[in-house]
Amino acid sequence: MDPIAPLPVDMGRLFDCLAPRYERINHLLSLGFDLYWRWRLAKCVCRQRPRRLLDLATGSGEVIRSLLRARAVTGEIVGIDLSKEMLQEAHRKGVSNVYLGNAEELPFADQSFEAVTVAFGLRNFYRRDRVLQEVKRVLVPGGRFYILEFSLPYPCLRSVYFAYIETLGPWLAKKHGLPPEPYHYLARSIRGFLSARQLARLLVEHGFEAVGFRRFTGGIACLHWATKPTAVFGSEHRAVWKDAGPARCGG
Ligand SMILES: C[S@@+](CC[C@H](N)C(=O)[O-])C[C@H]1O[C@@H](n2cnc3c(N)ncnc32)[C@H](O)[C@@H]1O
Repeated sequence: MDPIAPLPVDMGRLFDCLAPRYERINHLLSLGFDLYWRWRLAKCVCRQRPRRLLDLATGSGEVIRSLLRARAVTGEIVGIDLSKEMLQEAHRKGVSNVYLGNAEELPFADQSFEAVTVAFGLRNFYRRDRVLQEVKRVLVPGGRFYILEFSLPYPCLRSVYFAYIETLGPWLAKKHGLPPEPYHYLARSIRGFLSARQLARLLVEHGFEAVGFRRFTGGIACLHWATKPTAVFGSEHRAVWKDAGPARCGG
């Protein structure tokens, strides 16, 4: 098995059991930074202002709410997730247009979205390559893909950071009446995930161009962006994977 592939656990069931407490524990564990990271994602999408956007692994709809607040999309936003309970949380928070479905087999026609987002989802996809192919299929030529994901923090922060999430995550889960295992999995999955450069390279290998990324909060989270080429032949897969400032996000 690919050493950086996620564990073959039933993601839908895992998140069904976390759903009622997911957001609260997230905010506590990240000290509220998760809201800031999603806001940065929404600001980046604002530069494009797509008409139709798909949010993968939409969960309780936090990305959709950030996009709506930032008025980042001029038309429709659609969300898709494997977990029924997470989607029910989204409904409870007033987010509609969210569907039960697998990012590995998207139930949408070719070239039906101008943008696709995914926040804290890519790490959990079992067939990551398949998801990247699907994203490329549903994007229009010139459409943009945005990935917000945990990453390895800078080396000087790493041991403190992992000690923090490995201790506090399971403790918070127990305090909220949840099993601690998903939070042990969280730390393992972050350690085993691609570095920012590896993820940029993977996007280029899948035929995306104008790939870039920006690290946030000591490298704890990272936002990648990439474009589906407009020309089938003769397009150069240009990689721009040095840290870029917000002005260059998506540009
Ligand atoms: C950590 S949550 C992130 C939720 C949301 N994007 C956010 O920013 O809060 C990961 C979500 O990915 C979903 N998920 C995992 N694998 C999936 C797949 N193959 N297709 C669709 N959703 C998936 C889970 O059900 C869960 O809701």
